[in-house]
Amino acid sequence: MNLLVIHPVVQVIAIFLALYTAYLGLQRTRSLHFGKQARFRRDLHAGLGTVSLVTLLGGMAGGAIMASRFLEDHQPLESLHGKGGLILLPFLLIGLFTGFYLYIAPPKGKILSIIHGVNNLIILGMILFQVFTGIYFASHL
Ligand code: HEM
Ligand code: HEM
Repeated sequence: MNLLVIHPVVQVIAIFLALYTAYLGLQRTRSLHFGKQARFRRDLHAGLGTVSLVTLLGGMAGGAIMASRFLEDHQPLESLHGKGGLILLPFLLIGLFTGFYLYIAPPKGKILSIIHGVNNLIILGMILFQVFTGIYFASHL
């Protein structure tokens, strides 16, 4: 089996976890910003969110290592997929650190929560781009 297969499989699992984490987070949006009654499973959200974001970060490193070892004539970060991964990097880190802060020391205001939510929803959009460019690259190998 080609070891390159590991990277997309790991990333797809992390993406499903991220989608479920987003669903949990949006329950918080309903109560925090729209005054609706909604149960926010804070511990589960923080736990699954951490697993998904750390897996995405590890998966990026894995993709880069696999590509540099197993693809001939591979130039790091030359593909749209590689560049997309690089752009995602700060968003993943911001998502993690704002999440930890919100979890450990819930602030009085809503600003950090909004930054966290918007940042992480941007991640989901960019990940879609990674899925398409990743499949495109893989199908032209
Ligand atoms: C895929 C990753 C994640 C997504 C998509 C996500 C999404 C969201 C969203 C949409 C909200 C609601 C924000 C608002 O309406 O203002 C939220 C809130 C929250 N998130 Fe995340 N999140 C993720 C990861 C994390 C992580 C890793 C942690 C902690 C380690 C975390 C902790 C929290 C906490 C504590 C809140 C509630 C904030 C408050 O009560 O004001 N999240 N998240
Ligand atoms: C269905 C999902 C995915 C597939 C099929 C896929 C496929 C691939 C393939 C074929 C490569 C080697 C070729 C290249 O360099 O472009 C690769 C590398 C890479 N992937 Fe993915 N990938 C997926 C998801 C992701 C996601 C979600 C991220 C980021 C969070 C990511 C980040 C990277 C990075 C940083 C590299 C190394 C790029 C380089 O060294 O230039 N991938 N991926």
